[in-house]
Amino acid sequence: MAMPSPDYIAVGSVIIDDIVYPDGRTSMAVLGGGGTHAAYGMVFAGERAGLVGLAGRDLPADIRQRLESDFDTAGLAWTNLPQVRAWQIFEWDGTRNEVFRVAVLEPFMIEPLADGDAVAYPSAAGLTLLREPEYVAGWRARYPEAALLWEPTRAFMLSADRERFLQGLPHADIVSPNLLEAQTMYDTADEVEIMRRLLADGVKIAALRMGELGSLVARSGDERAWHIPAIDVAEIVDVTGAGNTYCGGFVVGWGRKRDLALAGCYGAVAASFALEHVGCARIPANLATEWQRRMAEARAGLREVPL
Ligand SMILES: Nc1ncnc2c1ncn2[C@@H]1O[C@H](COP(=O)(O)OP(=O)(O)O)[C@@H](O)[C@H]1O
Ligand SMILES: [Mg+2]
Repeated sequence: MAMPSPDYIAVGSVIIDDIVYPDGRTSMAVLGGGGTHAAYGMVFAGERAGLVGLAGRDLPADIRQRLESDFDTAGLAWTNLPQVRAWQIFEWDGTRNEVFRVAVLEPFMIEPLADGDAVAYPSAAGLTLLREPEYVAGWRARYPEAALLWEPTRAFMLSADRERFLQGLPHADIVSPNLLEAQTMYDTADEVEIMRRLLADGVKIAALRMGELGSLVARSGDERAWHIPAIDVAEIVDVTGAGNTYCGGFVVGWGRKRDLALAGCYGAVAASFALEHVGCARIPANLATEWQRRMAEARAGLREVPL
């Protein structure tokens, strides 16, 4: 019997990461890619996720098997291009530099186009989109009713790209930048000021991800934001993809409950699972009970912050 079409989908390609830590240790050939991490965030929130993007011809067989068992992969296009691999080089302050190891990158970053003929899962309730601003309108048109979370790609989050950033904003229900990138875009270090500026720029719901400082979420018109603490995990093994995983969790929380603080808690809890693994997190055997426990921790830590 065919599985029902998933309600939540992650748009973004599969990337194989070769991770270099600041002390010189490496983790080679791990499953990565913003879309993949986001899809795990949806899985942690209890959904079967659909993955929409490109995969290369030489994707290792074990990774392909893993994708096919953990997700609905009907939305993945298997291209004849070499699989994208990237060095993820971390610095002590958490800065990450991504260096791609293949010559052909662009199709993985833009396809499938939202106005292409066939997009999988037309009835999705929510999606995460890791794309440059020019592509947000097209995905909105494809999914007029779904909760659309746009995670701006790092590469263009410079103040000089402000006009481009603004172009993507009106089409997303939720915009989730990371603090370092938003600081560059708005030229201020102050996270509350960044929240004000995001909302003034027309963001409907802002979810500002701040690493170990947790996240801030607010809606347009609100006079306060919610601060969601980072969840305590026994050991932080690798922060790669925590933000994407947060986004996957967030869009499920928002799609189900339409409660902002709760959606932020979904994001933080999803991200916490990502921190415990190199590359994409494994689905823990005790997911349901751990999810409940961590949700209780997140909710207990919620604080209001005046805007
Ligand atoms: N170093 C960290 N310690 C604790 N929690 C973290 C850490 N890094 C990320 N997280 C958790 O993951 C969430 C998203 O990660 P974040 O670092 O904000 O995004 P990105 O992956 O874009 O850098 C955070 O809001 C927090 O809950
Ligand atoms: Mg981070």
